[in-house]
Amino acid sequence: MTPRTTRSDQPSLTTTAASTAAPTNAVPTNAVPTNALPTSAATQEPAADGPLIEVRDVRKTFAVRRRAGRLRRTRSEVHAVAGLSFEVAAGEMVGYIGPNGAGKSTTIKMLTGILVPTAGTLRVAGIEPSRDRIRLARRIGVVFGQRTTLWWDLPLRDSFGLLRRIYKIPDARYHENLDHYVGLLELGPLLDVPVRQLSLGQRMRGDIAAALLHDPEVVYLDEPTIGLDIVSKAKVREFLRDLNRERGTTVLLTTHDLTDIEQLCSRVMVIDHGRVMYDGSLPGLHGLGESERTLVVDLAEPGPPIEVDGASVVRVDGPRQWLAFPAATSAAPLVASIAARYPLADLSIQEPAIESVIARMYAAGEA
Ligand SMILES: Nc1ncnc2c1ncn2[C@@H]1O[C@H](COP(=O)(O)OP(=O)(O)OP(=O)(O)O)[C@@H](O)[C@H]1O
Ligand SMILES: [Mg+2]
Repeated sequence: MTPRTTRSDQPSLTTTAASTAAPTNAVPTNAVPTNALPTSAATQEPAADGPLIEVRDVRKTFAVRRRAGRLRRTRSEVHAVAGLSFEVAAGEMVGYIGPNGAGKSTTIKMLTGILVPTAGTLRVAGIEPSRDRIRLARRIGVVFGQRTTLWWDLPLRDSFGLLRRIYKIPDARYHENLDHYVGLLELGPLLDVPVRQLSLGQRMRGDIAAALLHDPEVVYLDEPTIGLDIVSKAKVREFLRDLNRERGTTVLLTTHDLTDIEQLCSRVMVIDHGRVMYDGSLPGLHGLGESERTLVVDLAEPGPPIEVDGASVVRVDGPRQWLAFPAATSAAPLVASIAARYPLADLSIQEPAIESVIARMYAAGEA
């Protein structure tokens, strides 16, 4: 079978009326099904021919009951995923973004087999997730940033030990991976600390290691940088970049922080109302709506607004100046020309908010 792809070099854009459904706390999840006790030692099956992830015309409709008065309840349907199709090839690192309630987490839950689609087909490594969730569990890793998959009362080390038994990870492989990830994610001093006592950033690193101990070919990361400080975010990003480059792990990354996408993903899919609204590069997305990024410059001392081609000062506060420039262009020449002419103490780049990029994308589609 030849790999098919829905993705073209030209980014695709579809527009619909933009209204955002309310976010919700979805079904309880545990990325690693704790009842998933495979019967044989972890044997990797041959890679499926074709895309590693294949989603075709998938729908997920939830029936919800709402109170309508003291005794009455009304039933309604929420179309969380409403005709979704895409493919991801092995080795890709794809950003999966969209506003609150767009259907991102629902997609990931269907890709793990936690949720059964209402219609359509999903295949991951040739496996239909909801039919063969346990067999699939060995091939995938999942991190839900909003909740841990670790055992709350146990030290990190014991959680890892349980996963080793659940996945029947061979001894040598387990120790090699444990050393590798504990080193890279700086978990050494935390191994004997109960998960409940870990900070958010520490816990997230523990969750990421836990998702990878069994050498999955694909990892779904649902907001792995949520709530982390800048230093922790940078560490998680560096780790993910290396994981994808060095181990060839396929990554599907959901985030509300466009810096994650900017630094990690050459392809980004925008999801809204349960459908793919854009599939292409991040600069391509920025270019569609003429989004702007902001360069924050700290001068050695306060001065008049910086004058430079390709950017304009939008705010000045003492020695700090904010310059807006088109998000689709590289910041490097801008930084170089400012650095050559002004004494700098520091600078950083702010990505626009996902919501504003998407709003501009719709506006451009309607124009
Ligand atoms: N178990 C459920 N029961 C009823 N409705 C649900 C359930 N899970 C999700 N939904 C609804 O489905 C839609 C999509 O939710 P989902 O969690 O997939 O969004 P999301 O894109 O992950 O959003 P966020 O960015 O806020 O995490 C929302 O309207 C949500 O209210
Ligand atoms: Mg979500």
